Amino acid sequence: MARSKLFRFDQNTQADNVLEEGKPLYETIKGKWHELYFKNRNPIVIEVACGRGEYTTGLAAVYPDKNFIGIDIKGDRLWKGSQVAIEKGLHHIAFLRTKIEELEKFFGAGEVAEIWIIHPDPRPKLRDARRRLTSPRFLGIYSRIMQPQGIIRLKTDSNLLFDYSLDLFQSPEMQPYTQELVFTKDLHQSLLLAEHHQIQTKYEKAALAQGLTIKYLRLIWEAEKYRQQKVSDEL
Ligand SMILES: C[S@@+](CC[C@H](N)C(=O)[O-])C[C@H]1O[C@@H](n2cnc3c(N)ncnc32)[C@H](O)[C@@H]1O
Repeated sequence: MARSKLFRFDQNTQADNVLEEGKPLYETIKGKWHELYFKNRNPIVIEVACGRGEYTTGLAAVYPDKNFIGIDIKGDRLWKGSQVAIEKGLHHIAFLRTKIEELEKFFGAGEVAEIWIIHPDPRPKLRDARRRLTSPRFLGIYSRIMQPQGIIRLKTDSNLLFDYSLDLFQSPEMQPYTQELVFTKDLHQSLLLAEHHQIQTKYEKAALAQGLTIKYLRLIWEAEKYRQQKVSDEL
């Protein structure tokens, strides 16, 4: 393994804002983020597949009255966000190293207010549709950890992933669970750009340099309704 990666992993083990396997909080945090980590009752916003955590740290700087958790499986990427949070003295930030598939191990029902999904892997192959972070499988996971009504946001340069997600949220089956859906297929020409506070990840910069447009959607997700419907479907 490269020395720089080893150095980052070592710093992660020492950083209080990184929760990863082997640390005591990793095993006990489920349902207790407010009590054991943030020590306040502010809403919890998570960024799934956060990479280097540009959104987590960027949004935390704008919203001191919310708590932010960046989540990714790659420790060397989380390291960057962790270090930025430390340098900027942002204590209402945590980074959690896990697969998004396993979120329910770390969050109790109703613990999460808002989910940001920023330039996730588009998973273009049909056989990988279940791995898209807006697929019904992941919406089920999100619903089991979200407040009754939470906010979901997706930003991507992928037409395929965006159209897949928009079609899903606008489909008759999903109508009972979505409210106030707004979207743009060209964020940089839209008033919705203001919601991003000039935060851009390296994926967005690369997409813009290639002349691609950035797509964005936001909606209120009826998590409890969705959860209850799924439970009754299974009975
Ligand atoms: C294309 S990158 C985008 C990262 C970041 N959102 C950005 O815009 O810079 C996708 C990220 O998703 C993470 N990832 C992909 N699938 C994941 C999964 N199932 N669980 C956790 N992280 C995942 C990868 O490790 C990677 O950091």
